[in-house]
Amino acid sequence: MNKGPIGIFDSGIGGTSIWREIHKLLPNESTIYLADSKNAPYGEKSQEQILALSIKNVDYLIGKGCKLIVIACNTATTNAIEELRAKYDLPIIGIEPAIKTAALNSKTKKVGVLATKGTLSSRLFHSTSESHANGIRILEQKGTGLVELIENGELTSLKTKTLLERYLAPMLQEGIDQLVLGCTHYPYLIPLLTNILPNHVKIIDSGEGVARQTKKVLENYNLCTPLTSKAKFQFYSNKDVEVLESFVKPTGVAYEIRFLDF
Ligand code: SIN
Repeated sequence: MNKGPIGIFDSGIGGTSIWREIHKLLPNESTIYLADSKNAPYGEKSQEQILALSIKNVDYLIGKGCKLIVIACNTATTNAIEELRAKYDLPIIGIEPAIKTAALNSKTKKVGVLATKGTLSSRLFHSTSESHANGIRILEQKGTGLVELIENGELTSLKTKTLLERYLAPMLQEGIDQLVLGCTHYPYLIPLLTNILPNHVKIIDSGEGVARQTKKVLENYNLCTPLTSKAKFQFYSNKDVEVLESFVKPTGVAYEIRFLDF
């Protein structure tokens, strides 16, 4: 048993989509969420820069007493998780695009993946993608600019819609029937995506899978919090606290939120 919080970090507010799933499955667990929005997007940075930022985030969360780290960012996972696991003793969970699920479900044998440049160009993404690509065509699309729009709170603006339509058109023309969201910011675009995509195209994101994996790891390492303890939910941002709050408030939980000079 361990009452310590689960530490979650992302390049910004996108990982709150993962936080929601973790909280839904593990409501008694305290969490500390770190939004490194000042350095968003990670997707346009080099592997060295992404690793350095990830180390800074993990050090901060460990300093706050976290018992396990969730990297709620595809770009940081694909570019840094191996090094982070080698560096730290505590369990570290990452997030990878759910290509396996999509490949198993696809009837047209064509799967679209929308992700950042940093994720799509990583070695880890390529090995995952190849291992599930048996007889499946994976159509990759960079979501350049989408993270910035989401960080600005532009979830349904005309600019966001136009950009999404442009990115999705080639994949739709090729006949995908599964769209994998390879960035934790993108689940916030699901209302727009549902509008744009034909009904037969299924949207796949990885949030639930990460929450299940977090539960499994807590159990395996005997790190679950006692059922009687009261959970605390802390959120930190090094940029616009108001933007982060606009993603947390609708969940209805009692939270603490703070600006962090970080
Ligand atoms: C980014 O910061 O570019 C996106 C984060 C992600 O890949 O989930």
